[in-house]
Amino acid sequence: MTAELVRSPAPASGSGDRSRIVVAGKGGVGKTTLAALLARTLARRGQTVLAVDADAQMNLAWALGMPPFEATAIVPLSDNADYVEEKTGARPGSGWGMLLRLNPEAEDAVERFSVRAPDNVRLLVMGSLHQAASGCLCPENTLLAGAMAAIALRPGELILMDTQAGIEHFGRALARGFGQALVVTDPSFNGVSVALRTARLAADLGIPMVHLVVNRVRGPIDIERVEDYLNRADAGTRPAFASRHLLPEDERVRAAEPAVDGLLDGTVSPFGAAVADLADSLARIAGRVR
Ligand SMILES: Nc1ncnc2c1ncn2[C@@H]1O[C@H](COP(=O)(O)OP(=O)(O)O)[C@@H](O)[C@H]1O
Ligand SMILES: [Mg+2]
Repeated sequence: MTAELVRSPAPASGSGDRSRIVVAGKGGVGKTTLAALLARTLARRGQTVLAVDADAQMNLAWALGMPPFEATAIVPLSDNADYVEEKTGARPGSGWGMLLRLNPEAEDAVERFSVRAPDNVRLLVMGSLHQAASGCLCPENTLLAGAMAAIALRPGELILMDTQAGIEHFGRALARGFGQALVVTDPSFNGVSVALRTARLAADLGIPMVHLVVNRVRGPIDIERVEDYLNRADAGTRPAFASRHLLPEDERVRAAEPAVDGLLDGTVSPFGAAVADLADSLARIAGRVR
């Protein structure tokens, strides 16, 4: 049951739960496509999936295949912060996590603020997350951290969070709760550079398993090129990836836009088949370490 996603709070320190997976990497490398297809694939295999859209563009709903009229009607959680402030007189900054925990009416926040996407995937849209120049944790970010911390998962339940680019603006409190990071890149030098930086940061923030996903691979030359870029990174600072995955360039991805429905049958889509393998491996890790 999806409702089971919301229960007692997770440990305040965050446990690096392997069932919490964050997707990061340079813009345009395929994070949203991957997050949506993983969510749908895992849901079809019996997992209860909460997809979290932490990108201000808010395009995960479309990728998940929600009908346009439903996707455009979604009210992001950041807008609900104003509602909470109105009701309680308090800006739900650092107090939001507490509020979710202590206020019985707010306990079902995910259930109330999330929407149902195809294959019973639950979608929580965070809205705009800002970072002040000072690097402070702004209320919206704390809101996200609080909301994530308030969600506890049982076996067979997974959180998949799609991000704008990196994870630097999330802060320690949020990142610590995530047990796996998928760092996505295309076979470009810039993509790999951002991936390396992101992976280092993810490790520094305490995410125990960081996987490298190379998307849009057209052939052996792309693989060699990525190897070369990775090897150029200073050996001392090169992150240790828990695993590496290759996802092929696939004309069907674009043809399927904006949704991933056309890719769910791995027999017709090479990208879909590769993502299904990745889904299996993530589910295995989540199941094993729980
Ligand atoms: N394996 C692939 N083959 C072909 N096109 C892809 C592939 N992966 C992603 N794309 C295309 O790349 C573009 C960017 O993908 P998107 O998932 O929005 O990236 P991000 O979320 O990282 O910004 C989209 O047009 C998408 O259809
Ligand atoms: Mg995206």
